[in-house]
Amino acid sequence: MLEDTSFAIRPIDQADEKEVWQPIGDVQKIEGKKQIFALTCDEAVVNIHFYRGDIVRVTIDPFDGKYDSVSPAVIATPEKVDVHVREGEDGWELQTKRLTVVIERSPFRLAIYDNEGTLLVRDEQPVCFQAKGRMRCAHALTPTDVVYGLGEKTGVLNKRGAVWTMWNTDVYAPHNLETDPLYQSHPYMMVLKNGHAHGIFFDHTYKTTFDLRHELFYTFTSDGGALNYYVFAGPHPKDVLAQYTHLVGRMPLPPKWALGYHQSRYSYETEQEVRELIDTFRAKHIPLDAVYLDIHYMDEYRVFTFDQKRFPHPKSLIQYAKEQGVHIVPIVDPGVKVDAEYDTYRDGVQKDYFCKYADGTLYKGDVWPGTSVFPDFLKKKVRKWWGEQHTFYTDIGIEGIWNDMNEPSVFNETKTMDEQVVHDGWKTHRQVHNVYGMMMTEATYHALKKQLKGKRPFVLTRAGFAGIHRYAAVWTGDNRSFWEHLELSIPMCLNLGLSAVAFCGADVGGFAHDANGELLVRWTQVGAFFPYFRNHCAIGFARQEPWAFGETYEQIVKRYIELRYEWLPHLYSLCFEAYQTGVPMMRPLMMEYPNDRETWNVSDQFMVGDQVMIAPMIRPYTAHRIVYFPEGRWIDYWTKEVFEGSRRYIVEAPLDRLPIYVKEGAMIAHADVKLSTAMADEQMTLYVYTMKEGTSTYTLYDDDGTTFAYEKGEYIRMHIRATFVDHTVHFDVKTDGTYQPTWQLHVAFVGDVPTTIVVNGEQRVIDEATNTFVL
Ligand code: GLC
Repeated sequence: MLEDTSFAIRPIDQADEKEVWQPIGDVQKIEGKKQIFALTCDEAVVNIHFYRGDIVRVTIDPFDGKYDSVSPAVIATPEKVDVHVREGEDGWELQTKRLTVVIERSPFRLAIYDNEGTLLVRDEQPVCFQAKGRMRCAHALTPTDVVYGLGEKTGVLNKRGAVWTMWNTDVYAPHNLETDPLYQSHPYMMVLKNGHAHGIFFDHTYKTTFDLRHELFYTFTSDGGALNYYVFAGPHPKDVLAQYTHLVGRMPLPPKWALGYHQSRYSYETEQEVRELIDTFRAKHIPLDAVYLDIHYMDEYRVFTFDQKRFPHPKSLIQYAKEQGVHIVPIVDPGVKVDAEYDTYRDGVQKDYFCKYADGTLYKGDVWPGTSVFPDFLKKKVRKWWGEQHTFYTDIGIEGIWNDMNEPSVFNETKTMDEQVVHDGWKTHRQVHNVYGMMMTEATYHALKKQLKGKRPFVLTRAGFAGIHRYAAVWTGDNRSFWEHLELSIPMCLNLGLSAVAFCGADVGGFAHDANGELLVRWTQVGAFFPYFRNHCAIGFARQEPWAFGETYEQIVKRYIELRYEWLPHLYSLCFEAYQTGVPMMRPLMMEYPNDRETWNVSDQFMVGDQVMIAPMIRPYTAHRIVYFPEGRWIDYWTKEVFEGSRRYIVEAPLDRLPIYVKEGAMIAHADVKLSTAMADEQMTLYVYTMKEGTSTYTLYDDDGTTFAYEKGEYIRMHIRATFVDHTVHFDVKTDGTYQPTWQLHVAFVGDVPTTIVVNGEQRVIDEATNTFVL
């Protein structure tokens, strides 16, 4: 591509940098209406709007409303907030119970404090703009502040030290440390200051840039239009997520099958191949919940078609798969082949549903089907129409769709649609590029939800914007079978989770390039604990199904896929937590230990909930690694060895072992291994990691796994509190919800078995044969 030549440093870009930045000047007057404050500055209108006591929105517009740059991310409406106003000589103070906004009059500057007096945000330089419509804001940082979030980015967990751009881009290769941007845009950051977290969301559809290279400040810049950002008070990282997801919504519960093991390849090319794949999984007793149909299932890549030769009987294939407990997930790309004999193209042209230039000519670009047109997903009626096309799939029993190429990707120099294309009337592509994919995925999700009549749909997407988690799971695109990409997937998914995309994962085994047995084993081990668990591999590269590298590797891969199913009750309970609070299942250590500075920059370990820590093996030919243990005592899941916290250890991990550590006192629910989530659990086991003295809590959640009845309280939630004292454990169990589980809950102890067990005041005895008791 030309970016790799001198073209990249052509004078035009430099000239742009020389354009003058103009400050917005002093505040002339302030007008307040309850919780909204309008400030007239020399060169701009500023609005400060409290959405809640702990969320404030700031808009700064020097362009008289010329630019419309607000995205569809925010779905919350402001709540009533009491704001106390104080006027001083230099400006004003606006105070809620949780935040204080200090406005300096001359020149205009903002500072925002939390209720403990911690400075969250301060304009380090006056807010500036350029006549061409760009804006820039600079906020103060201290050298020890840590910045997380920004969605799907390469690099380590802490995003400082680099410039990050938001411009959804299809990057097949490479995904290097400096590769930016990728497929999604999340102009949102979580900043940790001495253990205090706050958040900032720059809600802006145009290209935006976050410059985090400086020691004492960061800037965010928009390429067009007014500034519009929200500040979240924190102070705990979990509070920030609760506040951010209050604004942009939370993930719905996925169907349980979406949490099982998924197998994909570009492509399983025939019906026969798919059947044989499923048969092999079953013959080898390897659990499997979904198989993907990549682009070869279509008739010359026309969406909403099957190739009659390769897939003559899709309905019976889907039925067959279902009988084996497997869902079939076809890919759907936005490009519609230009072909006057193809219904979807003709219908869309007749209805005027495809993207056009301002002069009315259709925009055409090359993708898999050759020359294609692109639905204008910014229009509501186009989303509806597109959604309706999905009856083609749902009528034959499909319940999951994979949206790809929706940045949108176009095979040309810019990699996407011409910026001059207009959407939904007169919005330029430059303006709405970053939300195009999200709008496609919204259409898919809502249509599926309607067509599946009460069943939960599963949608997977590559492109997205802040708020995408309301509709889809996200995978991190075209990685490679490199150890470095296994390593990279951890901070990438941790930061996606911190950006509210709780349900995410990377292609296990790596997409392009040739995997090998050792890499597949290590990647499957860690993939089993990522929220989304799919093995996917590109055309022309070594196959990487679990059995691809021989018996030894196959047995270990199988064991870890089984482990996924054993851990599903725990993961599913955490999904419910994400649905309720926004806190993701897969968490950086700092989310649980924000005051322990040793956790702040750990990119190669993560928590699954608040009591389990995973330390993946990310190097070849290696059977040991360094692990940091936060405070407390930690038990090795396999050997039961105890590690004292607030220290580092070198731990051994032969090829068949993923280092997993459970905190002393923790409780974790497990199921028995099964071949698919379609099989109901008869028994679950709550493993209690005993301790000498202390208290711990656990919430076990379950429901029917397929419908939306959980929204009406049809679930079971067990709040379990264990108090350990003098060889006795007291369980206090409270249950809510109306779902009747298919399982019985057994309790087993790991570590010293208590001599006395009391459940809600009643003494219990352990069954000698099973070493458990039924709760
Ligand atoms: C893109 C996707 C990849 C898919 C391929 C063919 O590269 O990222 O997952 O297999 O297209 O559809």
